[in-house]
Amino acid sequence: MRIAWLTDIHLNFLLTEQTLAFLRLVRSAQPDAILISGDIAEAHNLHRYLELIDSELAKPVYFVLGNHDYYHGSIAGVRELVADICEGHPRLKYLTQSEAPIELTPLVALVGHDGWADGRFGDYEKSIVQMTDWQLITDFIGRGKRERWPILQALADDAASHLRRVLPHALENYQTVLVITHVPPLREACWHQGRPSDDQWAPHFACKAVGDVLLDMARTHPHRTIEVFCGHTHGMGRCRPRRNLLIHTGGADYGEPQIQRIFEL
Ligand SMILES: [Fe+2]
Ligand SMILES: [Fe+2]
Repeated sequence: MRIAWLTDIHLNFLLTEQTLAFLRLVRSAQPDAILISGDIAEAHNLHRYLELIDSELAKPVYFVLGNHDYYHGSIAGVRELVADICEGHPRLKYLTQSEAPIELTPLVALVGHDGWADGRFGDYEKSIVQMTDWQLITDFIGRGKRERWPILQALADDAASHLRRVLPHALENYQTVLVITHVPPLREACWHQGRPSDDQWAPHFACKAVGDVLLDMARTHPHRTIEVFCGHTHGMGRCRPRRNLLIHTGGADYGEPQIQRIFEL
């Protein structure tokens, strides 16, 4: 089983020709399945790009969405749209809406959820970072910093509950469980310009709620391995917070999508 992992490909920043060239590059790597850990495009063009990905790659594509995928839309609205798209394209699987682990091989399963930066690492109150999310995602428009915080936390907690439901079943039945999520789940995984994010950025670059679940699952399943694939910070890095928990964070530049990794299972 040959896997290609992509993240933060932001296809909406490319001309159609460039998008097709990138998808051809992915196809030429001959993966049996593709993982995408979010920031594929934006709400108003996600439909078009997901269809293009499906038709050009013609292989199972397991994905989660990132914050950019909700730009110019609402969180509930985009998730509903994506559920509809996946229903009409059986090779596309949105893991946030998948309650059962996906079997990749008899030894390896896959689960995932968007995640969301929850302001629980670093200093949310003092951070002066302005995320474009606040202006472009309906759920945040017109809300102040204090009003946004519980919404961010609820989104992250929803991701954590999802993983708390699906991971035990996956870990009982498979030696290795791959997890894809957009937002790095631990502070040491939110690489930014070659080092873990500072107190200004960490609130917007990490999802502590998901990190807590992963640490807990790694502790309670010492003979299993959890391997996480995330993005969001656009800074590449890897960390191993537990012997059996490995987190890959993908690097990205707008307008220059890349294949993060090709690996065999
Ligand atoms: Fe991104
Ligand atoms: Fe992102």
